[in-house]
Amino acid sequence: MRHVVADVRAKGQSIALVPTMGALHEGHLTLIDEAKNVADVVVMSIFVNPLQFAPSEDFARYPRTLDEDAKLASERGVDFLFTPTKEDVYPEHAPVVFVHPGSIGKEWEGAVRPHHFEGVLTIVAKLFNIVMPDVAVFGQKDLQQAAAVKAMVRDLNFPVGILVAPIVRDPDGLAMSSRNRYLSPRDRELGLILSRALFAMRDAFAKGERRASALEATGWRMLERVVGLTPRYLAAVNADTFQRVNNVRHGDAAVGAVRVGETKLIDNIIF
Ligand code: PAJ
Repeated sequence: MRHVVADVRAKGQSIALVPTMGALHEGHLTLIDEAKNVADVVVMSIFVNPLQFAPSEDFARYPRTLDEDAKLASERGVDFLFTPTKEDVYPEHAPVVFVHPGSIGKEWEGAVRPHHFEGVLTIVAKLFNIVMPDVAVFGQKDLQQAAAVKAMVRDLNFPVGILVAPIVRDPDGLAMSSRNRYLSPRDRELGLILSRALFAMRDAFAKGERRASALEATGWRMLERVVGLTPRYLAAVNADTFQRVNNVRHGDAAVGAVRVGETKLIDNIIF
């Protein structure tokens, strides 16, 4: 990867990085489009990062579809795929030094997955140092992750611009996710209620409601009456700090997560 980067730089070309864990879908592929708009060369990384999965989570059964991913990525215009092994990335042992996400890492997704954002920031920092991109592209689908990465870049002075691309949804409104392939048709119907609850919050905001508690109640009412769906959190937050807000303003976000069977789904909207 360093040889590739040196060659690209010698030609005076800029680099955009799209970090992923593979099992690519249209949501990932639109990140490539964004990357191509802002840089000469697009590098996509595919690495299922063990550090960001808790022992109880789905690391072992996370979908791995590298041949299909390589085809989709190159058809969409990726110039280089970086697909290191676990041993390449973490030779011999887990890292001794980690990137700590601070307050953003304690809330919401961080509260239900205690070391998740530390694992994410540590691998993203490593990828930035390996690929040395000018720009990196992330999806709004994982808004808290994007906020944590932006905070890391700001606080640790990484010379990397961060772009956040809109959420790509299926026609029925479900946010695309590599984990959706675990869902049965019935579970999919249940999962859709999360996005509907978030859209209802956005509609209520558009009609003038500004109290976070009232907006959250609108969403909670929709989640709570569904058998087979376990709500994990639903809240109105500042999209940069991820602290809950009392009065919602344009640019704040509603973030939500549910469990359907064994599958965890997350989604969000920007007010
Ligand atoms: P992964 O879940 O594979 O997602 C890779 C990127 O695709 C993330 O920036 C994510 O927000 C974006 N993405 C996923 N679904 C999307 C959708 N429906 N619309 C728009 N963007 C979408 O996020 C990770 O991997 C990892 O945590 C990673 C950053 C690679 C670090 O390991």
